Amino acid sequence: MKLIDNFNRIHEYVRISLIDKCNLNCIYCNPSNTLAKLESNKSILTYEELYRLVKILVRDLEVKKVRFTGGEPLIRKDVMKFFQMISSLKNQYGFEIGITTNGTHLLDKLDGLKKYGVERLNISLDTLKKTKFIAITGKDLFNETLSAIQKAIDLGFDSVKVNAVIIKNINDDELIKFIEYFKSYPITLRFIEYMPFTGNQWDDSKFLSWSEMKYRIEEKYSLTEIESDGKISKDFFVNESKLKIGFISSISDHFCDSCNRLRITASGQIKNCLFSNPSEVSLKSLLADKSIADDQIVRFIQSTLQSKWFKHPSADELATLNQNNMMSIGG
Ligand code: GTP
Ligand code: 5AD
Repeated sequence: MKLIDNFNRIHEYVRISLIDKCNLNCIYCNPSNTLAKLESNKSILTYEELYRLVKILVRDLEVKKVRFTGGEPLIRKDVMKFFQMISSLKNQYGFEIGITTNGTHLLDKLDGLKKYGVERLNISLDTLKKTKFIAITGKDLFNETLSAIQKAIDLGFDSVKVNAVIIKNINDDELIKFIEYFKSYPITLRFIEYMPFTGNQWDDSKFLSWSEMKYRIEEKYSLTEIESDGKISKDFFVNESKLKIGFISSISDHFCDSCNRLRITASGQIKNCLFSNPSEVSLKSLLADKSIADDQIVRFIQSTLQSKWFKHPSADELATLNQNNMMSIGG
């Protein structure tokens, strides 16, 4: 049975947050770290509960891709044991596994991730300058992140994407430098429009649209569009290089009509959209109770999805909503 919403969108991609805390305080995401403190008492899904959840998703709901996010997923204790557990499900049901990480705790885990079939790595890097990295993230972990990216490329993962959130007067001067730096690597570099979330002080003057970014890049590099339907990223080959670039245009050109994603928070609430409120009922009580049949969990997920909206509110509305925090859902 597929996971289909009221607008006939098939949800084959589930993003699960493993932990609602992050070791960085990025200015666009988690500037004060207060959210981490507020949420720290909520109990998160155990690895056994997560295993049951993933099994139900890939076996009963035809989910094809599971991406683990945070906070920062790799700071969760014994996380490699969890990926080992999940690899047995991958062998049985053949789905894709990815993580979205800030890369600071990645280097020593890369061999293990490869062994356990976690092949799709999305790694955040917003600048190529160490001092700016510290200013953006609040931590001196630039070298750790960059070496992890380098090793991930060397190990030949199926997909390595470097994510940069572009903010005017912060890092928009580095668009070309990013391409220069990564152009000999077979990876995808994604430039992400800055989105408003609770406490991140988003405002229009800091916003740069994907079309403006592309315009600036094309002054130096020629691009060839990569046709695709229903992807969140508008992708291009950078001609005469190995690099692909993508633009994530959540704000200036939303891609809700082809949305195929469902999110689960670390504490087990379902989030139909990145910008919507999480479900009031958590999956945790169901997953923890062995007397509850998997079928009942399937029905609960299906019925929660039916309240998904067709599209999320505009950027200005989102900026006033004060209901979302990026840090606890990890994108
Ligand atoms: P893959 O397609 O699996 O490579 O990953 P992704 O691009 O879905 O995920 P990633 O975690 O790398 O997120 C990149 C950026 O896209 C982040 O800024 C996310 O917040 C944003 N993003 C991911 N999914 C959605 C979505 O459903 N809606 C919106 N508006 N933004 C999203
Ligand atoms: N706007 C756009 N992208 C964001 N991310 C975090 N906060 C924001 C924001 N305000 C990105 C991170 C990471 C992914 C999980 O989401 O940089 O790549």
